[in-house]
Amino acid sequence: MTGTATTQRFSGKVVLVTGAASGIGRASALAFAREGATVVVADQNAQGGDETVRTIREAGATASFIAVDVSKNADVQSLVEKTLSLHGRLDCAHNNAGIPGTRARTADRTEDDWDRTMNVNAKGVWLCMKHEIPLMLKQGKGAIVNTASVAGLLGLRRFSAYSASKHAVLGLTKSAALEYFRHGIRINAVCPGLIDTELVQTAVLGAHSRIPGALRRGMEAAVRGYMGRHQVAGRMGQAAEVAEAVLWLCSDAASYVSGHTLTVDGGASVK
Ligand code: NAI
Repeated sequence: MTGTATTQRFSGKVVLVTGAASGIGRASALAFAREGATVVVADQNAQGGDETVRTIREAGATASFIAVDVSKNADVQSLVEKTLSLHGRLDCAHNNAGIPGTRARTADRTEDDWDRTMNVNAKGVWLCMKHEIPLMLKQGKGAIVNTASVAGLLGLRRFSAYSASKHAVLGLTKSAALEYFRHGIRINAVCPGLIDTELVQTAVLGAHSRIPGALRRGMEAAVRGYMGRHQVAGRMGQAAEVAEAVLWLCSDAASYVSGHTLTVDGGASVK
């Protein structure tokens, strides 16, 4: 990838990104690769994951795809083992895979939806750290960033399971940060605001999946425009803007930063 030695902050480093088949995870994978990292693209979506890998390789950097369901212990264990056998080490991890859950009020939410949302968003982040940290401990150094959300700081009407799961991500991040800073591992979180990705479309229009293609695309564009205009920033954020925050937190420039929650929301949460 293009870039001078001085801008390649991750040269020689191995970085694992979950949820890298799409959206924020893909943007993060591309940004790490641009800055010299060897990237492990992890996701349950093989097609999207392969596309991320192809984009990275076409730009001259190194990446591989590993299929994973982050809510399954055996999958995550195997992901970290494969990363080690392919690349010999793990320097940074962006634990980012997540789902919005169903749009429903608290009393109308099903047990299945609660379990799935918590299992992917909260348990998934814990499982990733559970298997990444021992490897980083052996190396004596590592940096982890977990993707939470502004919904991890505030309530979110009709997405209570999502909000609860993202509050849990922040609790996990802070507790683990206390446990491992002295061992060379920094653990932080990003809280994106409204970012223009598939997840937003799924969350907002997912209930209307029977609407035919062209009409649906028109609706999506209108809803996204409306949502953007009503942000404090006057627009939605871009996945690449979140990736920049993730890279800084993983970089040596953030050497005394741990347990921090970096909000990337165009000011939405201070209103
Ligand atoms: P996205 O839907 O574009 O990407 C999420 C990725 O996670 C997808 O590639 C999906 O296949 C993968 N994934 C989902 N469940 C998985 C599982 N069990 N195992 C492995 N991979 C799985 O969504 P986006 O927006 O990029 O979301 C990334 C993260 O950012 C999520 O944790 C989300 O909650 C968080 N976030 C997103 C915001 C937004 O406005 N888009 C706002 C705040 C947080």
